[in-house]
This record gives sequence, structure tokens and C-alpha cells, in this order.
Amino acid sequence: ILDDYDSASEWAAKYVRNRIKEFNPGPDKPFVLGLPTGSTPIGMYKKLIQFHKEGQLSFEHVITFNMDEYVGLAVEHPESYHSYMWDNFFKHINIKPEHAHILDGNATDLVAECDRFEEEIKKVGGVELFIGGIGPDGHIAFNEPGSSLSSRTRIKSLAVDTILANAKFFGNDISKVPKAALTVGVGTVMDAREVMIVITGAHKSFALYKAVEEGVSHMWTVSAFQYHKKCTIVCDEDATLEL
Ligand code: GLP
Repeated sequence: ILDDYDSASEWAAKYVRNRIKEFNPGPDKPFVLGLPTGSTPIGMYKKLIQFHKEGQLSFEHVITFNMDEYVGLAVEHPESYHSYMWDNFFKHINIKPEHAHILDGNATDLVAECDRFEEEIKKVGGVELFIGGIGPDGHIAFNEPGSSLSSRTRIKSLAVDTILANAKFFGNDISKVPKAALTVGVGTVMDAREVMIVITGAHKSFALYKAVEEGVSHMWTVSAFQYHKKCTIVCDEDATLEL
């Protein structure tokens, strides 16, 4: 628990930096990192960019997999997760474009695209550290309430609450928010060797309570990580209001 959003972001970024450095990745031993989108990780990405610019951190041998992408939103749309990742992170660091994996929400065969993503993760030996965020309804990636806790990468219809929460990115116009997404499953994230979930703000406090102080439930998919052997939740004071 950190004091505020900025300290939580800094703590998370330092943790990622230290994990990558300790791992000492190379051409035959890449560091495989899972990444989230949303407003929460912006502060962490800014710090990681700073560490990179100061020469403290290289992403040359880092391979990334993003959690999710909207279905049917053009890649170049400013709110696509492709645009988000390139604008807020990738274009500022030395990641190789072929190492940055993001689901294609415009693929002609969406089921095959999800299977391909799972295969790519397997091919590189699985994810070392998966970073996630959650929605106020406790969803991780786009694993909305009711998702199977052993789910894999697939198409999900977005819950009304998520569409409302994400309307802020689409000029508060609900009709412009995509209604479906491709997302890694809860099982996909559970398979990572380590998981870090960043939760900030009073509006997430009930979800944090459900995540850690009640039983595991598919209605609050983040609660599944109570079963993970190495999961850290990084949060600010505001998010702990209900604990
Ligand atoms: C979306 C994403 C999630 C993210 C959530 C929270 O639903 N699919 O991966 O964690 O938004 O976003 P924010 O950080 O903006 O609250």
C-alpha cells in the first residue's frame, strides 16, 4: 500500500525495472512481460520510459504480450490498445516491434487469432511477469464478471459497467465504445510465473475488498489470484477504503 497514485506507479515501475535487470535477459533468454492498458498504468509507463532514457533499463531482449484489444476498432484509432501502447510506451523505448504482441481485434478469424496468441506465449516459454489492472467490477483484462476462472484467450462481450467506465475514452458517447474485445483469459494470466496487479483510486476500493477479503469468485475475476503462488497487489491508500 503506497500513499498515492504517483508513489504506487513509481513502486511498480521500480519493481519491473529490478526484475528485468536481475533476470539479465539476452538473445537466447528474453524476459517475457505481460502488459495492461487503461489509465492506471500510465504513471508506471512514464517512469519506465524515464529509467530507459537515463540508461538504467533496456528493452532490447524484452518480449511483451498485451492483455486485450477491442474488436472492430481500427488499429490507428486513437483509443485502440495498439495506439495506446505505441503512444504511451513502445515508441519511447528500444523494444523491437516484432517483440510487442497485441491481439488483432480486426482479424478475419477472431477465434484463430486468440489461439495464435496463446501459441505465441507458449513458444517463448510463458510469461515471466504479467502486470494487470482491474475494472471497478473486479475484472482483470476483459474477464468480466461470470468469466470462467480457467478461461483462455477469447472473445468477450463487454459488461454494461465496463462500457460505461470506458465511455470517458470515447467522448462520453456510449454508442462509440466497442461492445466486444479479445482478451487473455484468467487462466492465461494465472499461468504467468509472477503477477502484479495495480489498483488505485477510491472507485476501485470495493473491487479490492472483493479481491482480497472475500472468497474466490468468478463474479470478481481478480479474486482468482488468491490462488497464484506469486502475486503482488500494488495499491494506493484511496483503494484501501473498504479494507
Ligand atoms: C479496461 C481494460 C483493463 C483495465 C481496466 C481499468 O477494462 N481492459 O485491462 O484494467 O480498463 O482501467 P483504468 O485503469 O482506466 O481504470
